[in-house]
Amino acid sequence: MSLTFDVRRNPTPASEERRAAIHANPGFGVFFTDHMVRAVWTRSGGWGDGRVEPYGPIQLMPSAAVLHYAQEIFEGLKAYRHADGSVWSFRPEANAERMQRSARRLALPELPTEDFLGSLRALLAVDEPWVPPAGTGETSLYLRPFVFASEAFLGVRPANEVTYCLIASPAGAYFSGGLKPVTLWISQHYARAGAGGTGAAKTGGNYASSLAGQLEGIEHGCDQAVFLDSSTQTYIEELGGMNLFFVTRDNRLVTPELTGTILEGVTRSSILELAKDLGLDPEERRIPIEEWKEGVASGEIREVFACGTAAVVTPVGELRWEGGSAPSTAGESGGEVTNAIRSALLDVQYGRSEDTHGWLTRL
Ligand code: COI
Repeated sequence: MSLTFDVRRNPTPASEERRAAIHANPGFGVFFTDHMVRAVWTRSGGWGDGRVEPYGPIQLMPSAAVLHYAQEIFEGLKAYRHADGSVWSFRPEANAERMQRSARRLALPELPTEDFLGSLRALLAVDEPWVPPAGTGETSLYLRPFVFASEAFLGVRPANEVTYCLIASPAGAYFSGGLKPVTLWISQHYARAGAGGTGAAKTGGNYASSLAGQLEGIEHGCDQAVFLDSSTQTYIEELGGMNLFFVTRDNRLVTPELTGTILEGVTRSSILELAKDLGLDPEERRIPIEEWKEGVASGEIREVFACGTAAVVTPVGELRWEGGSAPSTAGESGGEVTNAIRSALLDVQYGRSEDTHGWLTRL
């Protein structure tokens, strides 16, 4: 039986003026809507206790397993307002299915797709005005579902009590520089994930393990770090929270293949599909880092960009490493192909072009 959500409305919601001020300058991940969704799973009873309640602190025992052993997964997707006022999400079933795969890897219970979609609809039913108005640039309502081990127990084993939450945050550009290309540092001392590990799962630990590499990059004047495969330090994997793409001189669109250590990005897989519509030849394979370094110099690589739900498509500029660098091919605001892919994706998401792939779901 599918989950139902009892609604307890926030008695002190944000005023219309406050919401408008946030929509005018949302940033990323700083403001939250009036409500959140919560449900609890127990080993004996399965999923239940579905609620929509005022957004606010969660009570957890200090012994809650997630705080110690990081048994946690999350998702990221967006709600977009179209010109006619309707609200849509982009491939939410893909997020639901990825959360189920992440759950299996982290020994957490799977939330059925219909309950995942039901939770989005339950939250939007009360927080719909928080979806930024149409025509205000690329603003959306970022939706963050997450699942964590809430059982108060210090033994290392899969938790017997788990909590699902969904929160929402009006979002503008992920990077404060907007479309300014990001400079990348090749992380030599740190890997993000290893064979047999959790690299393909969307779990907080992968992001935590990327932070030292990111700090190293910042110390070298870069915005982000690019991680290589942990066993040979040869092949390009991804950034801390984004997949990478390369546009070649002969119009191939190349991205690292999924080896179990790379996140299966929904934006990544959508771009591989869109590439064909734009006359590009998509290619998934292992890419040696040397190919990037040399390809920029020889002109074989025309453009590099990163992608993810939060950052959409972000041009990549200079690449730096210990003792060297490869110049940017991105100009001031990204190359022609990068921007064509970005626009094609955004046009579908905001209902400005026909949804030929059937990617939109009305919320
Ligand atoms: C997303 O793109 O939605 C993510 O979860 C990645 C994070 C860097 C915000």
